[in-house]
Amino acid sequence: MIISAKATLAGVMGWPIGHSRSPRLHNYWLQQYGIDGAYVPLAVPPERGEQAIRALPALGFRGCNVTVPYKELAYRTVDRLDPMAERMRAVNAIVVAGDGSLEGRNTDGFGFLENLKAGCPDWSAAAGPAVVIGAGGAARAVVVSLLDAGVPEVRLANRTRARAEELAAEIGGAVTVVDWVSRETALEGAALLVNTTTQGMAGQPPLDLDLRALPVTAVVNDIVYVPLTTPLLAAAAARGNRVVDGIGMLLHQARPAFAAWFGAEPQVTPELRRFVLEG
Ligand code: ATR
Repeated sequence: MIISAKATLAGVMGWPIGHSRSPRLHNYWLQQYGIDGAYVPLAVPPERGEQAIRALPALGFRGCNVTVPYKELAYRTVDRLDPMAERMRAVNAIVVAGDGSLEGRNTDGFGFLENLKAGCPDWSAAAGPAVVIGAGGAARAVVVSLLDAGVPEVRLANRTRARAEELAAEIGGAVTVVDWVSRETALEGAALLVNTTTQGMAGQPPLDLDLRALPVTAVVNDIVYVPLTTPLLAAAAARGNRVVDGIGMLLHQARPAFAAWFGAEPQVTPELRRFVLEG
């Protein structure tokens, strides 16, 4: 579809931005729903971050996604935060209000849970404890959304224990910090295992985790999606665990922001998944 001079504008701001799949994703939906709009990559160098965020209303943008390294800067720069962005202390989507003010949102936790539910419809939060590996921004979204969903206990293991302790203290609730050397014991009786670290990503070593103690009834999710089948997911599938890959988190986190900017509720379909992965 050719965009007109009235096109609704949004984009994704980051540095670097060349590997982002979000333009493919949002422009697929724009075309599918026949919307006169465009979603563009915004490659903003670090010293221009704040200026670029503040320029969105002047340029007529309806908003933008925010990725590395701007999620915290956006959190500090916007005029208002939705409750989830407040809890995440990070913004992944900015919506420009009618009066030109900036609202910061965070849909990463939503994307994580929707992906888990779509990939494993009979997963139940009540089934038992979840083990979460990692303590970065992605881990925060995962832990908060699991607790909100009603998981009885989150066992949090991170190579650097202090980061896990900090995160657990900030989030509150039923989070147990597990020492890195005890991470495999923590798998006993777990109903869900989530890797939020970069281990297993193309170019990185696999996550160092022996799954022997994990019940075969547990669901295993990796938020890494390049490759789609990480060594962790391959090992889990080989021993009979149900596995959920990570691409759906990206697809689902985009839905609420697309709806806010472009006024249509987009669907995640197998075709969309294929199209985004091909890019
Ligand atoms: P994000 O905010 O995107 O989650 P991050 O803050 O860089 O990214 O976090 C990356 C996670 O991967 C961290 O939990 C990190 O552990 P540390 O806190 O100890 O750095 C984890 N990680 C990175 N390399 C790792 C490795 N070789 N083994 C285990 N965990 C690793």
